[in-house]
Amino acid sequence: MDLTDRPRRLRTDGIRPLVSETTLDATDLVAPVFVDATTDERIPIESMPGHERVPLSAAADRVAEIRETGVEAVIVFGIPESKDAEGSRAYAKDGVVQEAVRRITAETDAYVITDVCLCEYTDHGHCGVVEEHAEDDPTLTVENDPTLELLAKTAVSHAEAGADMVAPSSMTDGMVGAIREGLDAAGYSDVPIMSYAAKYESAFYGPFRDAADGAPAFGDRRHYQMDPANAREAMREVALDVEQGADVLMVKPGLPYLDIIRAIREGFDHPVAAYNVSGEYAMLHAAAEKGWLDLEATAHESLLSMKRAGADLIITYFAESVAEQLSADS
Ligand code: PBG
Ligand code: ZN
Repeated sequence: MDLTDRPRRLRTDGIRPLVSETTLDATDLVAPVFVDATTDERIPIESMPGHERVPLSAAADRVAEIRETGVEAVIVFGIPESKDAEGSRAYAKDGVVQEAVRRITAETDAYVITDVCLCEYTDHGHCGVVEEHAEDDPTLTVENDPTLELLAKTAVSHAEAGADMVAPSSMTDGMVGAIREGLDAAGYSDVPIMSYAAKYESAFYGPFRDAADGAPAFGDRRHYQMDPANAREAMREVALDVEQGADVLMVKPGLPYLDIIRAIREGFDHPVAAYNVSGEYAMLHAAAEKGWLDLEATAHESLLSMKRAGADLIITYFAESVAEQLSADS
């Protein structure tokens, strides 16, 4: 055969690392941490093997464990001691996230990101305040503008507690601008915002909603999170967040939305984050438990695909295990 081009020549063990286009490092990863104000014990999360809700007293230890693996950044989620219609424990000075951040920053060198949303703190489980009688009327939904002030207050309270970065996830129109204004007015102009810019109304969030106890009590999130059918709309969402001052642009979920990661990478020059969500984690674990997939290999390949699509950083429940695997391989 006279083939002039033989791509296989570049696939020998010696040359593969020299020509590989994408790398995955522990320093690209952000590990989620769940801090639960209702418990004194570490409680395993059934649908997310290896993850736990930890009490405040163990928050810093949990983060220290993550740091041991080479992962340097965490994103903190809270389960409050009580919930109400306005989600007031989300912006309480002594709230669970605020208290956890104080402890984590005092005892570790982790880069601490906080999720800014109301759904874990509202008794109805929506990501903002809802219109009256929304539970009886499926056309009623979260009230956008009244929610903005509460999100800004939440972000400022996280910054006051020492958060390095805030990550608003509620898909409220104008949330990035409101939070930027709130942070700047409170003297936190150096605290960056990682916006959940293109967050889809996805069925892959199931395990998280168990973990964080944040499922809506009625209705769903389709009036504020994006329709999975839409890609151009993601570019509009992202452009709005950029105009409002977003520093990092997140796409969520990861694997089913690699096209969106790529489009944002090409259309904007901000860092792009991918959120490899709870359902993506749970499905690999479930298949691996049955012996149908190799967990380590599929986890690594999933994260690599997000980097290849254009993500600079990845929020993932695999952070610790992949980081350990990467250091064992090197
Ligand atoms: C809260 C929030 C959710 C996730 C991150 N922040 C849940 C939701 O929007 O319902 C999902 C994370 C995951 O599934 O891993 N707004
Ligand atoms: Zn929410």
